[in-house]
Amino acid sequence: MDCLLVGAGAIASEYAAGMASSSLSVAGVCDREAERAKTLASEYDCSWFESVDRALTALDAPVVVNLTGHAAHAEITRTALTADRHVYSEKPLALNASVAEELVSIARDRDLALGCAPENEHGPSQRRAARLLADGRLGPIQLGYAYAHVGRVTDWHDRPRSFLDIGPLYDGSVYPLTLLVSWFGPVDRVRTADTLDIWPEREHQQPSTPGHVEAVISFATGPTVRLTGSFYASHRSREFYGLELHGDDGSLYLDGTGAMETAIDHVQFGRLGRQYTNVPPQSPTTAIEYADAVERLAGSVTDGTPSRRTGRRAAHVVAVCNAIETAAADGGPVTVPDYGVARGSLPSYTVTPLDPDRRSQRRRAIRLPPVGFGCSRYRNGEYVDREDSIATALDAGYRFLDSAELYGNEHRIGELLSAPGAPDRDGVFLLGKVWRTNHRREHMIEAATGSLSELGVSAFDCYALHWPGAWAYQGPLARLAEKPVERQENLAFPEDGEGNIQTADLPLERAWRNLEAVYDRGLARTIGVSNVTRSQLETIIETGRVRPALVQIERHPYQPQNELVSFCHDQGIRVVAHSPLSAPGLLDEPILETIADRHGLSPAGVVIAWNVTEHVVPIPSSTTTSHIVSNLAAAAERLRPEEIERIDSLRQPDFER
Ligand SMILES: NC(=O)c1ccc[n+]([C@@H]2O[C@H](COP(=O)([O-])OP(=O)(O)OC[C@H]3O[C@@H](n4cnc5c(N)ncnc54)[C@H](OP(=O)(O)O)[C@@H]3O)[C@@H](O)[C@H]2O)c1
Repeated sequence: MDCLLVGAGAIASEYAAGMASSSLSVAGVCDREAERAKTLASEYDCSWFESVDRALTALDAPVVVNLTGHAAHAEITRTALTADRHVYSEKPLALNASVAEELVSIARDRDLALGCAPENEHGPSQRRAARLLADGRLGPIQLGYAYAHVGRVTDWHDRPRSFLDIGPLYDGSVYPLTLLVSWFGPVDRVRTADTLDIWPEREHQQPSTPGHVEAVISFATGPTVRLTGSFYASHRSREFYGLELHGDDGSLYLDGTGAMETAIDHVQFGRLGRQYTNVPPQSPTTAIEYADAVERLAGSVTDGTPSRRTGRRAAHVVAVCNAIETAAADGGPVTVPDYGVARGSLPSYTVTPLDPDRRSQRRRAIRLPPVGFGCSRYRNGEYVDREDSIATALDAGYRFLDSAELYGNEHRIGELLSAPGAPDRDGVFLLGKVWRTNHRREHMIEAATGSLSELGVSAFDCYALHWPGAWAYQGPLARLAEKPVERQENLAFPEDGEGNIQTADLPLERAWRNLEAVYDRGLARTIGVSNVTRSQLETIIETGRVRPALVQIERHPYQPQNELVSFCHDQGIRVVAHSPLSAPGLLDEPILETIADRHGLSPAGVVIAWNVTEHVVPIPSSTTTSHIVSNLAAAAERLRPEEIERIDSLRQPDFER
């Protein structure tokens, strides 16, 4: 769709560049300064104009992108709407709420689209933060601190006058305000506000409005937020565009309400009483571009439903800014009209589906998060406490826990899942495994019931045989970790007098039938099996009534088990890779290091990304916070086919631990 850009400053170049790779095209450029219009137009081989009226007459471009100076926005938007053009405006929509509201009315009466920047709720960090909020991790959110440290515009902008004329409220503060309104719905009232005329004396260019604003605002259905907008505080200060939200159960920190790209540490979660943990992306992310919002607006026009949603929201944000000024001048509180802004809509947590090539499987295969967290206590021949690292993993955003009665720490996981700030149970995939001494039906049901009660949940998302082969029953394994080590070993690894394992005469088919009985009782939503061979899996599929949903196997580049993985995928069975990182020497492999350098990952991250690329869900375990976070973040990377091929060359057919 053809667009006319009005205003040919620095931001216009950004919009135009994004349009080049979109369904939009730059049909004309208009600027009061002919030279600027001419320069930009020449880049896109289009017409240029000095006057908006002339441009609107000469060009029939259906969309006008208003990129003029702040104070000129309203007038240009009105001119374009009146000429029956859809308009996308840079922020603010206007400087006065009644003018902003009037623009929305003109657009509505003429059935035109009216959009306004910023649409920062689409930013990858903002979306990650929104998912965390939707996950309910913070509990009721009652308080927030938002910063817009625009900084000394005279230092960083080539034409600061437009900023100095309107102050930090109508430019920088619009970012946190817009994001918060999109999350929590309209602002109800400005409780208090104050302004300061602070500015260095040596600066010859002075703000014409106060250069620093403080306000306390309340959302109709959300938190009370203290907002600071400042030209005085440096944009290199600790708080730039940071947002901190505090709930009953935890806190969220978002580094950059206006950020268009993301980084691992842009979103952090702090469960009540715990340090902030980075919440990394778990799927590939791309930065947003200025032109994306114009493309969305054009899409609504093509669909025959010209959108005014962000125009209405922008009008409300202008009303908030006006109310802040009124409260600063006359005292608060000042109520704010909502202008029909919808209640905030936080998206619900979604897990990554299989890729579209595997659509047929998607119908049958269960949905899992891309990476899970291993909760085993066992580490290099020793048992280690895992409570703190599991808490960190939940805080970082892991939503798949690999548990087992053998790990003896189910009650610890249960405590973490019921503590304030815990993720919503529905958002966590809980895998449990019955140990091989419990393959008889009554023992298996007792084990499953006991584990569930320790975990404090009514059913496993998947309950699996830890191993296909049965061993002799030695008694219940509840709270194994609390028993002396020797007792733990005797209970779990029964030996005869000669040190040989005591097996039990219970074939796999029967063990599977017993697992089906657990399923039939509603104690597990799906069932699975760990450490199987292909022929054992075929036996289960052929003789069982309930199909396995999940297979857990040891998988890493030395032992990729690709044939079994393909078989499972063809059967619609999800594969989970246990012990993905701990094969001796693996993380020192030069091939992994080379690929790691290319992707900005560690070798461990490459192994995780390799699994995720191959649609296998790795369940690394770690007790180191930085590893916990970077392992999860590696899920956002995809390896190229030639890199997968190089990793295949590491295969060791006779690999044994
Ligand atoms: N079904 C089964 O029979 C079975 C068998 C074994 C394991 N499992 C499951 O699989 C899970 C994982 O297996 P695993 O415990 O054998 O360990 P793993 O995940 O293969 O490796 C853990 C080791 O790797 C290190 N590590 C983790 N992230 C790292 C990173 N980014 N960079 C460098 N080193 C890193 C850890 O040290 P730090 O702590 O310092 O990070 C730890 O020493 C278990 O917890 C369990 O849930 C299942």
